[in-house]
Amino acid sequence: MELKKAIELRTSIRTFTNEKVSVDDLKEIVRRAGLAPSVNNYQPWMFTAITKPETLSLMADKVAKKLKEVPSNNSIASKNVLSQVEWFATFFENAPAVIAIAMENYESVLEMGVNLSHDEINKMRNFPDMQSAGAAIQNILLTAVDLGYGACWLSAPMIAKTELEKIIGISEPYHLISFVAIGKPSKTIQPKPKKSIDEIFKLIE
Ligand SMILES: Cc1cc2nc3c(=O)[nH]c(=O)nc-3n(C[C@H](O)[C@H](O)[C@H](O)COP(=O)(O)O)c2cc1C
Repeated sequence: MELKKAIELRTSIRTFTNEKVSVDDLKEIVRRAGLAPSVNNYQPWMFTAITKPETLSLMADKVAKKLKEVPSNNSIASKNVLSQVEWFATFFENAPAVIAIAMENYESVLEMGVNLSHDEINKMRNFPDMQSAGAAIQNILLTAVDLGYGACWLSAPMIAKTELEKIIGISEPYHLISFVAIGKPSKTIQPKPKKSIDEIFKLIE
């Protein structure tokens, strides 16, 4: 598919048919994710595809349990918001596949030469590790469209990051960053309206 078309067709897909995502397609999606730019070509990522329904269900349970621990003011509005958030954080359990993106810390060369911690340098550089992960995730989303799937980026489940890392088997030096749910869309969804070019573009010449 032409890149422009994939970019224009991409929209977050949250409901899927039962059709599986083949292992070959998952590998191709991850291969293209790994072609993304990363700070100093560090390629700090590791991708785990989960297709086992029982595991996805267990993961969603952990997320739902964590969300229940979030202090609520018991108003109806709060209950509504929390139940909405719960759906946005757990719908991945019904996806044919979820790719978990994990990342290791980027050790800048600066770390060897200055008296600053990894976290301080990372903050000074505006989180190049997270920026690298974002580039890889966008490649996942666009490749999913290219291969005829729909996908959705999820950060909400990270509320249960520690529990999820245990289930998925992510350990030091890697940390869980995000999920992408993938499958064949169960319905046609129009891409969301976006800001116009005039609203988002400035030129300094
Ligand atoms: C960093 C990031 C985190 C997101 N986390 C979630 C999430 O946890 N659950 C969810 O349903 N959608 C999530 N989304 C999808 C956004 O809600 C979606 O991209 C946005 O509404 C724009 O819609 P579009 O993707 O269809 O253009 C996330 C998107 C980004 C970029």
